[in-house]
Amino acid sequence: MSVAHILTQAAPPGRIEVDQVSISLGHGADAFEAVRELDFSVAPGELICILGPSGCGKSTLLGALAGHLSISAGSLTVDGETVAGPSPHRGMVFQQHTLFPWKKVRENVAFGPKMRGISKNERLRSAEEILALVGLSGFEGFYPSQLSGGMQQRVEIARVLINRPYVLLMDEPFGALDAQTRSMMHGILLDIWTKIPTTTLFVTHDIDEALFLADRVIVMSARPGRVIEDIRVPFARPRRPELVAEIEFTRLKRHFIELLRIPNASEPLPRLNPLGEV
Ligand SMILES: Nc1ncnc2c1ncn2[C@@H]1O[C@H](COP(=O)(O)OP(=O)(O)OP(=O)(O)O)[C@@H](O)[C@H]1O
Ligand SMILES: [Mg+2]
Repeated sequence: MSVAHILTQAAPPGRIEVDQVSISLGHGADAFEAVRELDFSVAPGELICILGPSGCGKSTLLGALAGHLSISAGSLTVDGETVAGPSPHRGMVFQQHTLFPWKKVRENVAFGPKMRGISKNERLRSAEEILALVGLSGFEGFYPSQLSGGMQQRVEIARVLINRPYVLLMDEPFGALDAQTRSMMHGILLDIWTKIPTTTLFVTHDIDEALFLADRVIVMSARPGRVIEDIRVPFARPRRPELVAEIEFTRLKRHFIELLRIPNASEPLPRLNPLGEV
């Protein structure tokens, strides 16, 4: 083993380098640039929230990091390796449910290790451990339809975490939940992230959510998405729900509201009719 290899192994995993990345979607005359020259790095274990208007390419960026989409320019690496396809080291959690309805919670969570050939005993033990971490001990034998939306989302997270990913990609994972459940999920996510420090890219439309969770917030412009802001969030951890009422929180929130208000020159805002309706 080379010295360089040993040094790379010694560093904690999960460093992401997004270097001048552009992504085109569609084909032929329908092709368009979804994101343009994105450029940022993420340190191992960092929790980044990405904000941006609808259609600016947030899901496209996560899709590229997951290895589901190819980039058209620049380079995308995780721990120095070019992202060239999906990997259990890069797990994705979506807003919509992706659980198998015919499988019990335990089998849903153990599915990834099963595909990787892990023995039944070991994968079920591992599933129980991860389910305990997301607060779902006792629900292993339930079917997804027997769980609330928030609990199903916890199973989704467990299902990804069981692969011990270096990078956790979350695409508006709590967007469909009511405010109270969402707030509870924030606590659970930060608790898990503290216990298993994993580089996390979390896409959201919710400024409060971004400020509450993140080490850094990245804001993208309207399509083609570019990085227009990259701010370190100054709040100490652990974070308490009262944080959202603090003056500095409100100040930063106002800054993000202003940034996201900038109209997109390439897609004019809809005109209002005299009654003020779109
Ligand atoms: N398969 C596709 N073919 C063509 N266009 C697509 C495809 N997927 C997405 N788009 C378009 O690409 C652009 C970027 O989409 P993307 O889903 O990444 O945006 P987003 O920032 O995640 O939006 P939202 O906040 O609404 O989820 C959008 O304008 C969308 O309409
Ligand atoms: Mg999206």
